[in-house]
Amino acid sequence: MIFAGILAGGTGTRMGNYTIPKQFLLIADRPIIAHVIDKFIVHSGIDKVIVGVNENWHQYMTDIQEKYYREVDKLVIVPGGSDRNGTISAIVEKTKEISGAPEDILVTHDAVRPFVTLKMISENIDAARKYGVCDTVIPATDTIVYSANGEHITDIPLRNNTYQGQTPQSFSVRLFEEVYSSMSGEELQTVTDACKMFMLKGHKVHLVEGSVSNMKITYPYDYKIAQIMMENPEDDLFAV
Ligand code: CTP
Repeated sequence: MIFAGILAGGTGTRMGNYTIPKQFLLIADRPIIAHVIDKFIVHSGIDKVIVGVNENWHQYMTDIQEKYYREVDKLVIVPGGSDRNGTISAIVEKTKEISGAPEDILVTHDAVRPFVTLKMISENIDAARKYGVCDTVIPATDTIVYSANGEHITDIPLRNNTYQGQTPQSFSVRLFEEVYSSMSGEELQTVTDACKMFMLKGHKVHLVEGSVSNMKITYPYDYKIAQIMMENPEDDLFAV
């Protein structure tokens, strides 16, 4: 089966003073997370959408499911983990309960990237099937500067070889389990990106083309931009 895993276990501390996590804020009268779920519900290649949500907000998410997806049997909610990979792991457990087939694929996506396109989802499914694991990226526009100590520059990689990671990040469920179970406690604490786990364990992570518009809402400024983008869907740049 092909599963979508919507990562909504965070509480959006960098957003500042909002009383609800950013994935529940409204854009065009609809919660951001619902804009995200919509894409995976309408995509014909996705069999089930599993949302991993922070336990304190489980009821809130259930209310959203009742309000917007009452007729939809493709949607399942599970408690998220204490970090992002923990949420992915909780979603993986659910896929095993539902299917457990060796060829199962999981397309994970941040609950705060409402401008993901159906094309990106399709290309993720294809690449995960073909290569086992893939990441959605865009070429870096600014020069990426690396500092190992936060005081001075230790490296400046060639710009042509640098990208910004987005989501979806997609992989074989079987491969994820193999990689996740081989991580030490210390590795799990420092490695917050799922694709980095695959990389560390020797797997080649294939690149899928993302888009500047597939932005992540992290700060209040991003929320403002996302509202403007949603109000101007006729603009090609913001095509969803
Ligand atoms: N996420 C998750 N489980 C966690 C932590 C984060 O599923 N335990 C998800 C977030 O809900 C979000 C995505 O990972 O959809 C990207 O993370 P980020 O933007 O860092 O979200 P938050 O952790 O909510 O934000 P902040 O770091 O500002 O607290």
